[in-house]
Amino acid sequence: MCGIVGVVADPDLVPNVVGMLVEGLRRLEYRGYDSAGFAFIECGTGRLIVLKDRGRIDDVVKGYGVLRYCGVSGLAHTRWATHGKPSRENAHPHTDCGGRVAVVHNGIIRNYAELRDLLESRGHKFVSETDTEVVAHLFEEFLSRGLEPFEAFRRVVSLIEGAYAIALLHVGEPNRIYFARNVSPLVIGLGEGFNMVSSDIPSMLPYTRRVVALRDGEYGFIEPYRVYIEKDGEAVEWRRRVTTVTWSVESAEKGGYPHFMLKEIMEQPRVLYETYEGLLSSGEAIDAAKLIAEADLVFVTGAGTSFHAGLLFAYYSALLASTPVIPFISSEYGIYERLARPGSVLVAVSQSGETIDTLKALRAFKSRGARVVAVSNVVASTIPRESDRVVYTRAGPEIGVAATKTFLTQVLALTMISVELGRVRGVLGDSEASGLVAALRSAGDLAGRSLQLGVREVDRLVETLKTRNSMYVLGRDIGVALAYEAALKIKEVSYLHAEAYPAGESKHGPIALVEKGFPVFFLLGSGSEEHLDKVQGNVLEMKARDALTIVVGPPAASRLKGVDVFINVGEYDEVTAPYAVMPVIQLLAYKLAVSLGRDPDKPRNLAKTVTVE
Ligand code: M6R
Repeated sequence: MCGIVGVVADPDLVPNVVGMLVEGLRRLEYRGYDSAGFAFIECGTGRLIVLKDRGRIDDVVKGYGVLRYCGVSGLAHTRWATHGKPSRENAHPHTDCGGRVAVVHNGIIRNYAELRDLLESRGHKFVSETDTEVVAHLFEEFLSRGLEPFEAFRRVVSLIEGAYAIALLHVGEPNRIYFARNVSPLVIGLGEGFNMVSSDIPSMLPYTRRVVALRDGEYGFIEPYRVYIEKDGEAVEWRRRVTTVTWSVESAEKGGYPHFMLKEIMEQPRVLYETYEGLLSSGEAIDAAKLIAEADLVFVTGAGTSFHAGLLFAYYSALLASTPVIPFISSEYGIYERLARPGSVLVAVSQSGETIDTLKALRAFKSRGARVVAVSNVVASTIPRESDRVVYTRAGPEIGVAATKTFLTQVLALTMISVELGRVRGVLGDSEASGLVAALRSAGDLAGRSLQLGVREVDRLVETLKTRNSMYVLGRDIGVALAYEAALKIKEVSYLHAEAYPAGESKHGPIALVEKGFPVFFLLGSGSEEHLDKVQGNVLEMKARDALTIVVGPPAASRLKGVDVFINVGEYDEVTAPYAVMPVIQLLAYKLAVSLGRDPDKPRNLAKTVTVE
């Protein structure tokens, strides 16, 4: 939630940083988009210029003619409101009374109210309702007491509590940006004659791939040729932490597609293949499985889509490794941490590696002696860094707020772990396990085929569904977890109500809503006789109430009776079902959103990475 960027440069090499700020911020818009703003030290005059307003980045950039300005160093912010409604006053950057200090922040400063009272009692005038503004006034206060700027910043950091990634600029030091991180992510980008700070790597890709991920409690400053990091008053040796990211610039651009979501859906055949190859060559899934095999109690957690991938892990671990896995939504960790003990393993699933609920669950489990396996898409993000083992998906940056390619690559990684767990535990024979690993190689092909075969039915269905307000998505066995993810995808981008249930559960209440034309999806977990027989009963129950029944399944499902729309996505089995079933549903959600005039990349009220509880 919220994205921040800061750039400080040698004017001989980068005469104007404003373009970098705008471009960097555009690449962070997925983190929040209800307001945007810029602050920079103007070339020549040395004045602090602040341009900000509610609305999207491009509106603010156009509306204020941001690109007509020249800055030697600057900050930028895109906001997802926590304290105070979206408005010009509440948009970042925030300034002090004298208009000489600018601050951008992602997170929540828990003790801001008491700090604000204190500062007001000393005559500081606040203009926003935000927690962030206290940082600018505190810094001003310490400068006015004669402290050196870095000492003033240290004092600010020592006083604020909560989650924050902060960058601060002031007119007294135009070639320096102060930063601090606690809980909210912040990364330093190392350039030639410039340095950057940012909430995330994609914003820096056009300029540098050399990054240092900051850790909790670290603060310091960047200058064009210098990075200084400190923790608890001690200098931090950061040079060995420099990572070179392999993501290309293009991977964070739309590449001719109208939306990132569509691009990311279409990339799935490739990234599934790359993830598969990466998992095989790195041995990460095997290492994770070995750790899990030692556990006496296994949990899996995540939020939203990542939780749904976790459900599939629980399912496959039961099926392929006879291993019970307790799945829980990460924000509910308070109940489950009581079960954690040395000998437990928690599998923490998070594409960003920064989701606060998942991070808190991880820390709670670790504090009770459990060990953690992270499944993440972002190298050097916090959750992998704090875990005992890491399994990386190789999906490349996902910019669309709705998770698509990261979901299926997570599922692939987790399924590989389940297979290896089955092998280590002797539940699967060596050749059986190797056969399953080989079958997973086709995940990308199945996704490609799903998109090809399904597209015509999807287009027809969109016309019908866009006239409805509500729908059900049902499944059995593995189809249940897929149904949860499908319903989330449909509702978050189209704003139509979609609810998932195990098909058998639907007659214990939900069926009361079904009337003529009410859409009911059935996502098939396989084409086996047994599975089809079970689903058949549920389809007929819905048809008997005049529902519009839609089945997504393999060719064998054409034998089901009472089906109005059959989306044949090609052959698959229980282990490969996600790659055949989900892409077509993601495409449906995307097309539904576009036909209803929604922006699928930036659904209302959402942010890509949730870093506040
Ligand atoms: O980065 P994470 O995987 O930890 O994010 C968790 C959820 O916020 C995320 O999966 C969310 O539900 C999806 N963006 C929805 O499409």
